[in-house]
Amino acid sequence: MAYTVAVSGKGGTGKTTIAALIIDTLASLRCGSILAVDADPATNLHLVLGLPLGQTVGQVREEALSMVRSGSFPQGLSKQDFFEYELQDLLVEGDDVDLLAMGRPEGPGCYCSANNMLRAILDRLARSYDYVVIDTEAGMEHLSRHTTRDVDYLLLVSDPTVRGVRAAAIMARMVPELQIKVGRIGFALNRVPAASWRSLYPHVLEAIEQEGLQLVAAFPNDPLVGEYDAVGKPIRLLPSDSPLRQAVADLTRQEILPHRG
Ligand SMILES: Nc1ncnc2c1ncn2[C@@H]1O[C@H](COP(=O)(O)OP(=O)(O)OP(=O)(O)O)[C@@H](O)[C@H]1O
Ligand SMILES: [Mg+2]
Repeated sequence: MAYTVAVSGKGGTGKTTIAALIIDTLASLRCGSILAVDADPATNLHLVLGLPLGQTVGQVREEALSMVRSGSFPQGLSKQDFFEYELQDLLVEGDDVDLLAMGRPEGPGCYCSANNMLRAILDRLARSYDYVVIDTEAGMEHLSRHTTRDVDYLLLVSDPTVRGVRAAAIMARMVPELQIKVGRIGFALNRVPAASWRSLYPHVLEAIEQEGLQLVAAFPNDPLVGEYDAVGKPIRLLPSDSPLRQAVADLTRQEILPHRG
């Protein structure tokens, strides 16, 4: 049974960057098979992982929907078989990580039977991995919309601001309202300037305490991340002495690895 990690938080806080480095840590420690799920409609996890991108789940759903509407859905082919077949094609198989991109979320015109079928197939697929790591869209709603998978560890990422902490706390409070179960919730600051960051952000620390968030990591600002992003170089290729890479590896070792049953 897969151990599922979701990286969430408000926009631009570093979710995709951190998710990529968690995935890379799991892969380099050879902890088992990994499925990376890009649940952001602005599909970009493949870029930081250095993987190609095929079709998205959303595109397959749209394709099936338009075939059904136009009457061109092949007779004698069950929708279940169609999705099973198409989804095999969607899975990008990397050397040590597979990737599935969700693409556009389900639209308002519910194609419920297809969505239910897709969920069941995706759920079965995910179960055959040791780890599933989901990079999410900003906010929380997508967690119920995109996946039926329960999340074992939800990592909320914030910038080191009081406003960011308050926003993360609101997200944490929304968790019980989601349609999925969430195990533990961790909270991480990203882009803190230096080792002595605690003395720089007393208000942020106070807000974290007031909100009852569990601070599990403070990821350093790493100028190389910007340099890599500027030229489209995968974040997975950050050097082994990158302080950000090391901090994410520490979090993975402490908060993720020991909890997989
Ligand atoms: N620790 C870091 N050090 C330096 N730059 C960083 C760090 N983390 C993220 N960045 C930069 O911040 C920007 C946003 O990062 P990223 O795309 O990972 O955020 P996100 O939360 O996934 O954004 P979105 O909400 O758009 O999906 C990028 O330009 C990235 O280069
Ligand atoms: Mg992102």
